[in-house]
Amino acid sequence: MTENGLGHWERVLNVDTMNPNVKRVEYAVRGPVVQRAVQIEKELKEGVKKPFTEVIKANIGDAHAMGQKPITFFRQVIALCVYPDLLEDKFPEDAKNRARRILQACGGGSLGAYSASSGIEVIRQDVAKYIERRDGGIPSNPDNIYLSSGASDAIVTMLKLLTSGEGKTRTGVMISIPQYPLYSAALAELAAVQISYCLDEDKCWSLDVNELRRAVKAGREHCNPRAICIINPGNPTGQVQSRQCIEDVIRFAAEEHLFLMADEVYQDNVYAEGCQFHSFKKVLFEMGPEYSSVVELASFHSTSKCYMGECGFRGGYMEVINMDPEVKLQLTKLVSVQLCPSVPGQALLDLVVNPPQPDEPSYDTFIKERTANLHILSEKAKMTAQVLNTVPGIHCNPVQGAMYTFPRLTLPEKAINAAKEKEQAPDMFYCMKLLEETGICLVPGSGFGQRDGTYHFRMTILPATEKLKIVLEKIREFHKRFTEEFS
Ligand SMILES: Cc1ncc(COP(=O)(O)O)c(C=O)c1O
Repeated sequence: MTENGLGHWERVLNVDTMNPNVKRVEYAVRGPVVQRAVQIEKELKEGVKKPFTEVIKANIGDAHAMGQKPITFFRQVIALCVYPDLLEDKFPEDAKNRARRILQACGGGSLGAYSASSGIEVIRQDVAKYIERRDGGIPSNPDNIYLSSGASDAIVTMLKLLTSGEGKTRTGVMISIPQYPLYSAALAELAAVQISYCLDEDKCWSLDVNELRRAVKAGREHCNPRAICIINPGNPTGQVQSRQCIEDVIRFAAEEHLFLMADEVYQDNVYAEGCQFHSFKKVLFEMGPEYSSVVELASFHSTSKCYMGECGFRGGYMEVINMDPEVKLQLTKLVSVQLCPSVPGQALLDLVVNPPQPDEPSYDTFIKERTANLHILSEKAKMTAQVLNTVPGIHCNPVQGAMYTFPRLTLPEKAINAAKEKEQAPDMFYCMKLLEETGICLVPGSGFGQRDGTYHFRMTILPATEKLKIVLEKIREFHKRFTEEFS
């Protein structure tokens, strides 16, 4: 409260009057450990002495920030789209053709124009063709494709459409534990009810339908379960679900009358032998019309992950299946309020779904770069699990896919008590201490949800190989020191 000519003045918007749902939102991936890491970076720049010379951020799935190189063809086309005068310069013909095609589809031939709210039509057609190729010819209709500013945008939009009711009729949404905190954050903001189902750590974070049944039954006591979200390959747990598991989930969704949301942003990030990515759409249609004609599905993809890692462009799409035509009209209306998804993001997405073809000049370089990016990730996935499993007190499941590991920590009782005294979750205490002593920035498992009494951290496999080796070595030394200190 302050005094001025109007007398007592209390801000209209303060923490007591603001939207309480926003206050309930938490997003660990950019939480306190990361904020402290940013501060430490500043301190290092100012010359403050630390036991390390740099902060290594293994907290966020941002490949380019960690040094991954962009795909040349993508950047050439985007450069041409952004500054079409370059079309007069020496660029590969296929890049020029692609840029001209995208620009022709843009208002006024400019990437700076708004597009249709569901995205540029030719790009939606290219997305549909990509999905058909990916799914072995199962048809995809461009009218079911909505382009988005990253997958996050489309996921939140779908959750908004699904949320209704009050009290016991309030929409409940099933999400995994551990989960990617976009889901819990969006549900908190929408005041929808989170229904948690646990992944089975002892079975490589697989999904058990009995656990889904338990969770939905418990959810029905206090809300109206209407949707289930699956992240496959998984973040933060790095598992790739089997085809059998996907079928089970589809059957479960049908039995329980749930809308299915399949987050498939890591669809190219599969490393483990014997593992394969199966799209929910493909499996749904292969299960026959009994399921494919009724189960409502929205699946999501993004330019941010896989071999591209182009997070900053904010490109993505969702495909909706069996959506009520009237709801589709509402969806189109809802997305039109934001005018349109990022147009550079749409252009980049077009290149992802329509990359250079074997008879085009950029093909060889494209394949070489894509293969190299995925190969390096695959090597780092193996190395991460292998090294962490040599540390007594750390247990790490194989990193089958995605870009993360979520190892379990055995923490001494004294450390757990010390954390309690500081009113911190034990794994937050651990990660903070790791950061202060080594400069390594990880995210505490508590930010993703975990079974009570278990402790984890999430680490990305994105630091460059040599740096990742250092990170793993430092974690090993730290864990040993930490265990001794609190024993
Ligand atoms: C599982 C999952 N879904 C969605 C997203 C959002 O990605 P974007 O909005 O950048 O496409 C992420 C980002 O890390 C993710 O891990």
